[in-house]
Amino acid sequence: MTINILIVGAGAVGAFYASRLALVSSTQVSVICRSNYKAVKANGFAITSPKYGSYTFTPYHTFANPRQAIDSKIKWDYIVVSTKALPDVSDDSEILEGLVGEGTAIVLVQNGLGVEEPYLKRFPSAIILSAVTIVSAAQTEHGVIKHNRWTRISVGPYLPGSTSWVAIESNKRFVQLLQAGEIKDAEDYSHSKLQMVRWHKICINGAFNPSAVLSNGTTNNAMSMDPELYIHLKGVMDEVLETAPKVLGTPLPKEFATSEAILKSTQKNTSGSKPSMLLDWEQGKHMELEVILGNPIRIAREKGLEMPRLQTLYALLRKAQENRDRAKSQSHL
Ligand SMILES: NC(=O)c1ccc[n+]([C@@H]2O[C@H](COP(=O)([O-])OP(=O)(O)OC[C@H]3O[C@@H](n4cnc5c(N)ncnc54)[C@H](OP(=O)(O)O)[C@@H]3O)[C@@H](O)[C@H]2O)c1
Repeated sequence: MTINILIVGAGAVGAFYASRLALVSSTQVSVICRSNYKAVKANGFAITSPKYGSYTFTPYHTFANPRQAIDSKIKWDYIVVSTKALPDVSDDSEILEGLVGEGTAIVLVQNGLGVEEPYLKRFPSAIILSAVTIVSAAQTEHGVIKHNRWTRISVGPYLPGSTSWVAIESNKRFVQLLQAGEIKDAEDYSHSKLQMVRWHKICINGAFNPSAVLSNGTTNNAMSMDPELYIHLKGVMDEVLETAPKVLGTPLPKEFATSEAILKSTQKNTSGSKPSMLLDWEQGKHMELEVILGNPIRIAREKGLEMPRLQTLYALLRKAQENRDRAKSQSHL
């Protein structure tokens, strides 16, 4: 039986995982493109990877917009959403209107906390799978995907306060498809463990991403080598790692890396990689501030907990982005 997969947000992460899922004989993987439509329709995606070599991924269908995907009348088994999560800019769950049918699982491959909520609200009876990846990839030009390193993706059903064997099974099958596409470290998690993974990733993204912007473009490695920034990064990470168990009501697993281990490994990684928030800032784009900083702060606050270090980064960067955008719009008057 054919498994129909639709990618919404066919950029770095979406196209990379799509290209692996497409290798499985039972799948047909289609994409909805936006600015890269012309290039992808003409030539597919050119992928380069230190692990998988250079190859082309030609989607089964390349759609220019959601309407074309609806008109195809395909019954989607999985809709993978890998747009940047920017709830302050757009509610991307809207893109899925008319595409989610009975048995469709929505897979959210995005950073941050609370990304599942708009989808749960719009599609209360759909299966929602939540995924966290540590992959490093970039779309260097339209249709050209550079996989830099790492492949790990952790996937769990999103079941706050409920149980669904259908969702658990669907999650298992999706992870098996990724593994069949040679993503050997695709992991099948429970709802609660996946939320722990999300919080743990916040500890990394919440510390490095805003600090890279506020320190005027410092790479992760350079920040981890700077004595004052080391103290700052460790402080932010420890704050998140201490708050997460109180919010989740359970300790984080022992195997999750400590702040010291994360900093040590960053000190060894001399590739000069810049966090995504810094890349977005440098390109004048909107940053994922709400899901990486705002939502964790608000979720903790609901439980009476404050994270003052994270809150300081959020308040400063939100204002910096607001000022930049105002200056930009005034210069266009
Ligand atoms: N890149 C990484 O290494 C990495 C690693 C871990 C996690 N993540 C997370 O993964 C998520 C995706 O990141 P990414 O780096 O893959 O971003 P990206 O390269 O910018 O890809 C996002 C894609 O979504 C498309 N898109 C946005 N809105 C759309 C719409 N309404 N209709 C159709 N397409 C739309 C964008 O099109 P346009 O180009 O036209 O805007 C772009 O092609 C983020 O949450 C990020 O934090 C990324």
